Amino acid sequence: MKVLAFAGSLRRGSYNRLLLEEAARLADGAEIEVYDRLGEIPPYNEDLEADPPEPVLDLRRRIAEADGLLFATPEYNGSVSGVLKNAVDWASRPKGEAVLLNKPAAVIGASQGAFGAVWAQADLRKSLGIAGARVVEAELAVSHAHQRFDGEGRLTDDELRDGLTEVIRLLTAEIAQRLSTASVR
Ligand code: FNR
Repeated sequence: MKVLAFAGSLRRGSYNRLLLEEAARLADGAEIEVYDRLGEIPPYNEDLEADPPEPVLDLRRRIAEADGLLFATPEYNGSVSGVLKNAVDWASRPKGEAVLLNKPAAVIGASQGAFGAVWAQADLRKSLGIAGARVVEAELAVSHAHQRFDGEGRLTDDELRDGLTEVIRLLTAEIAQRLSTASVR
């Protein structure tokens, strides 16, 4: 099972990226790969749909090849980061044949504030759902993210690690269900 993961923050020390790297270590039976070209994707422009830029084609191809998606979003001014929303917008088109259609997806998030990016996660789930993804009913809110990782980038909180394992379990279950339905057809 291949899961493509997106950190909605481009900065080098991103806690959301650390969260995805921890998810990759915890995942059992799924290979989680972090997408590293988010910063190259140009702002969405419908005029470019006839001949999309190469980074957009790469994004769409990688999503199409993945069995499922895992998003870790920061919260910027109470919502999802612009780079992540921009990627979702590109992946939601062309309408009716977008790579997000029916794609299993899970959303988690980390912020340095007290709420763990819950508003951003809710907004991202809404957008992914509108784009046609199969968004699993799960949430992981890593609040005070700057206090949650050790020097090796490992989560220090057992409850959060269990929560992350549970999100991965729900996502892989959704993927397994989708794969079995697809093979019956
Ligand atoms: C933030 N931050 C933030 N935190 C929060 O809990 N709620 C918010 O609305 C915001 N808004 C916000 C806007 C902007 C422009 C920035 C740069 C930051 C703080 C944010 O949670 C913190 O920088 C995280 O560490 C971002 O995630 P990464 O980069 O560590 O993955």
